[in-house]
Amino acid sequence: MRILVVGGAGYIGSHMVKKLTRSGHEVVVLDNLTTGLRSLALYGKLIVGDLGDAALLERMFRECEFDGVMHFAASSLVGESVADPSKYYRNNVASTITLLDAMVRNGVKRFIFSSTAATFGEPVYTPIDEAHPQAPINPYGASKLMVERILKDYADAYGLNSVSLRYFNACGADPEGELGECHDPETHLIPLVLQAASGRRKSITVFGRDYPTEDGTCIRDYIHIEDLCSAHALALEALVSGEKRGAVAYNLGNGSGYSVQSVIDAALQVVSKTGHSLVVEEGLRRPGDPAVLVADSGRARAELGWRPKYADLQTIIEHAWQWEQQLAGQHSL
Ligand code: UFG
Repeated sequence: MRILVVGGAGYIGSHMVKKLTRSGHEVVVLDNLTTGLRSLALYGKLIVGDLGDAALLERMFRECEFDGVMHFAASSLVGESVADPSKYYRNNVASTITLLDAMVRNGVKRFIFSSTAATFGEPVYTPIDEAHPQAPINPYGASKLMVERILKDYADAYGLNSVSLRYFNACGADPEGELGECHDPETHLIPLVLQAASGRRKSITVFGRDYPTEDGTCIRDYIHIEDLCSAHALALEALVSGEKRGAVAYNLGNGSGYSVQSVIDAALQVVSKTGHSLVVEEGLRRPGDPAVLVADSGRARAELGWRPKYADLQTIIEHAWQWEQQLAGQHSL
């Protein structure tokens, strides 16, 4: 098949492009390279452009006759979304409508959307299944929920079939070491811990030890990037076979939560094998962080046949560490 991957030069998108091309699909990547990197666009054909550019999209859809679209391009910093909501509604909602309209005009009816656990807001119960109320507490989560809603209406009105995948904490790196996480600024726990271990950062700060959890630090559901990508591949198959129609959504996580402290402990075990260590500092709670966010991914398992391969935190961190050591090597040149 010929698949358009929007945001295919980003962290998650680049891994997906690799997986799709390895499975024999032809991939065109559209990325404006604001947060994506040319160095991650190793696979597929890269077109540098913006998904809000309706004329560019129209040309691409006419020329390429895509069989489906995967959409990873978004602004995704929670704090920034609170300070600058306009950017989030413009990039994440308005531009997505431009993309969906190009699909509708050109008769492309399969869409996979990167959604987020942030659409749920403060959890009412855990683990969080698809029946959990969606009440986002920041513009980032709201922008993703708006698109989920739009997808329902586009399914009813235009027959556009979609799967929204709500990621919990995406992490890890390509087990073959070709790709990995590379954000600027980096805000995510695992890459920050590993940067502290490689010496690219002075220390890691624990944001709060006074949460109502066993060790007092926040619990999250860390899901390996490879497992996220395999869920996307299965979602695409389900749309192609016609098994899934309309607008469906799945929560994607391992279903097991790890505390910030246990991430640091696991990282210490991994990095000490290569003679590294790290400095841990104590900080205040980060505003807007729920104590526990864990997914119930039973529906993705049952309906898509999804089976995460890398649920073990140690393995996740080993892959991320392999990548971090490459980045640290480049920085020290
Ligand atoms: N943390 C620290 N120190 C740091 C960075 C993070 O202690 O330097 C803690 C956070 O407080 C949190 C945990 O590590 O408890 C994980 O934080 P991340 O920033 O890695 O991830 P989040 O859980 O905040 O964010 C993820 C996604 C977002 C999404 C959100 C949904 O990355 O895109 O879940 O709530 F919006």
